Amino acid sequence: MTTQNELKQKVAIAAVAEIEPGTLIGVGTGSTTNLFIEALAQSPIRHEIIGAVPSSLATEAKLKSFNIPIADINDGIIRVYIDGADECNHHCELVKGGGAALTREKIIAAISEKFVCIIDESKYKLQLGAFPLPVEVIPMARSHVARQLVLLGGDPVYREGCVTDNGNHILDVHHLNITQPIALEEKINNIVGVVTCGLFAKRGADKVLMANNAGVQVITPR
Ligand code: 5RP
Repeated sequence: MTTQNELKQKVAIAAVAEIEPGTLIGVGTGSTTNLFIEALAQSPIRHEIIGAVPSSLATEAKLKSFNIPIADINDGIIRVYIDGADECNHHCELVKGGGAALTREKIIAAISEKFVCIIDESKYKLQLGAFPLPVEVIPMARSHVARQLVLLGGDPVYREGCVTDNGNHILDVHHLNITQPIALEEKINNIVGVVTCGLFAKRGADKVLMANNAGVQVITPR
């Protein structure tokens, strides 16, 4: 029986093949992405990329530890963005933000030509919402945002001790019934004080690589 970590490793290695020489890549945040960085560091393609745009300070540090050149989003077009997810459905809509990096991840996903999401099969769901939805909030607006999220049917829980790379706080919203991810993403993002929510539905993944015992499956939006 393959462990979850072995599946993450398998999909991380497969993702290296998504990189084209002579391009800028975006790199997400989390344990799957960390394994991707390790696979990239061992691949000859590392010497052929212009640079890697990190979605968090943690990812930047990890890339630097392997001497992979860091770039920023003003350095050019990002050809491919590679990142994990907490949940994914068959439309390649995602829940992200378990690692609190959702805002920078969403910016990089939005401006990248292609977003390849890498998951193990435990993340693949018929309906999103079992994983509490992370919402990044401006600290002074936290209680207001929490009340609005309750009106949307959720149970927001303040993520104790978590300060994002942008100096903000996270509310993890439990028990949301996410039947219309795009509509809910828009509603939550429109609440005053919300920086962004962890629904990646308006700009979902273009391609999901999902590892299971049989290998790495490719899922494209239906
Ligand atoms: C970080 C994220 C991660 O992609 C998500 O939490 C999945 O993490 P992991 O690969 O550790 O399971 O969105 O903000």
